[in-house]
Amino acid sequence: MALLEVEQLRVAFGGATAVDGVDFHVDEGQVVGLVGESGCGKSVTSLAVMGLLPRRGVTVSGEARFEGVDLFNLPRPEMRRRRGSDLAMVFQDPLSSLNPVVQIGCQITEVLERHRGLRGEAARKEAANLLDRVGIPDPARRLGEYPHQLSGGMRQRVLIAIAVACAPRLLIADEPTTALDVTIQAQILELLKDLVDTEGTALLMITHDLGVVAGLCHEVNVLYSGRVVESAPAGELFARPTHPYTVGLLGSIPRLDLPIHEPLKPIRGSIADVIRWNDGCAFAPRCDRVTEKCVEGEPTLAGGAHTHRCVMEEAIA
Ligand SMILES: Nc1ncnc2c1ncn2[C@@H]1O[C@H](COP(=O)(O)OP(=O)(O)O)[C@@H](O)[C@H]1O
Ligand SMILES: [Mg+2]
Repeated sequence: MALLEVEQLRVAFGGATAVDGVDFHVDEGQVVGLVGESGCGKSVTSLAVMGLLPRRGVTVSGEARFEGVDLFNLPRPEMRRRRGSDLAMVFQDPLSSLNPVVQIGCQITEVLERHRGLRGEAARKEAANLLDRVGIPDPARRLGEYPHQLSGGMRQRVLIAIAVACAPRLLIADEPTTALDVTIQAQILELLKDLVDTEGTALLMITHDLGVVAGLCHEVNVLYSGRVVESAPAGELFARPTHPYTVGLLGSIPRLDLPIHEPLKPIRGSIADVIRWNDGCAFAPRCDRVTEKCVEGEPTLAGGAHTHRCVMEEAIA
């Protein structure tokens, strides 16, 4: 059974649709990628699932079910309880997610008290354990430090420690490595992978970088302008990318297996060059394979285990 099922998720800010009917699911212990350029709706999707969007001026519809339980209609205290113990989130920017004036130790023990009822020395011991678990050297000393005393990579480790403090069933990581340099990125990805392997935590990995997804995810969902345009097991997606947007994303990441002078091919235009999904394919203005058919109406999601939203592919299939 799916741990998390998101169906027809729509989020609008005033009149502006940010997420436009997103479907995906995460199975128990699975690593699922949500990939797309900046502005395509990744963060809004994850905040909606976590129940962290402001209520005022925001319209959320569709469903997010956790083990069959509809998260959008849970009473607030119940959702608060589940945040942390069932679902936890790691954000992109570790500095702004930590409280700058509170010692690292207190920020971890607070979570341990609230969700696991640990107090005093027991909580402190467990906090040190957690820091050790995420690869922070000299954990006992680190507990007494403030966020500014730690490097960016160490802060991200602290956030991961806080997120895993309650052994959540599902960890949502929203671009957890974007603010870090490349070697630290690799270490953090390794750490997340290790947590998944040893704790059996499911991971929803949100990133703009298909390279991050490659070694990590079982399933990948490619998002464009608020909709999933392609979804497949990772190996299948990399072997047979089908939607022109996915093909474009793959063409714009550096590859070690190509001749050194092979230029990278960025996707032309930007996510601002968009038409509404109701009128045709939102990617059409940037697509190299665009035809009149692409703007004659809404492309539907086709295919079985490997789905894609492209009228041309439908015609071929
Ligand atoms: N609080 C907000 N108010 C209005 N629009 C927003 C808000 N947050 C996000 N958006 C819009 O929703 C869209 C998706 O944003 P986001 O989910 O943050 O993108 P991503 O995480 O994929 O970069 C963007 O067009 C963004 O401008
Ligand atoms: Mg984002």
